[in-house]
Amino acid sequence: MPQPKRFRRRLRDPIHEHRSFHRTESKIAVAGHPIHAMLVTFPIALCVCTLGADALYWWAGDLFWPRVALWAAGVGFFMGLLAGAAGTAELLLVPGIRIRAASWTHFILAVMLLSVLGLNWGLRLQDPVAAVLPFGFLASLLATGMTGMTGWHGGKLVFDYGLGTQAEGPDHGAAPASEMRGDKN
Ligand code: HEM
Repeated sequence: MPQPKRFRRRLRDPIHEHRSFHRTESKIAVAGHPIHAMLVTFPIALCVCTLGADALYWWAGDLFWPRVALWAAGVGFFMGLLAGAAGTAELLLVPGIRIRAASWTHFILAVMLLSVLGLNWGLRLQDPVAAVLPFGFLASLLATGMTGMTGWHGGKLVFDYGLGTQAEGPDHGAAPASEMRGDKN
């Protein structure tokens, strides 16, 4: 049976149609290169280094490795805080980033990750050698898993939604890559 005319209108997504939706260009950037993307490499790499140093201490018993882990965990944590500050500024200042739920999901994942990175460093401050087994190693494992999830999700923000990228779209905002591919929301 044909639908009455008033039910035949297409469903509309009010968020997608919001005028801020396509304003996704990074504001915390050097010559168009987002600072957050540059800084996140440090916590990602140093977190994996901490896990590696813990595993090498467990395997070889060399006291050099707990010192490496202490420094890698500490510098990784503080660089993570810097990266988080740049990311939070983007989140609050860029309308097309702020309006998307996915950005807030990334924020929550990242804040949980930063607390685990801080815990992993704090555990080692008193006695870096005794802290490694088992709790330091377990914290490094957890932090590495969470770094993978947060980093993967950050990549989705950039490559699927086009967040933090340069304006090119029809209304001077980047069209999300998922839209260009014709994906359904
Ligand atoms: C604490 C708050 C954080 C916020 C609000 C945040 C926000 C964002 C935003 C808005 C983007 C899109 C690109 C841009 O505009 O720069 C992004 C990308 C990304 N984020 Fe975060 N982020 C945070 C922390 C972190 C942390 C701790 C990591 C470490 C794993 C991380 C990993 C990434 C990665 C890998 C990308 C993709 C970068 C690229 O490929 O260009 N973020 N984040």
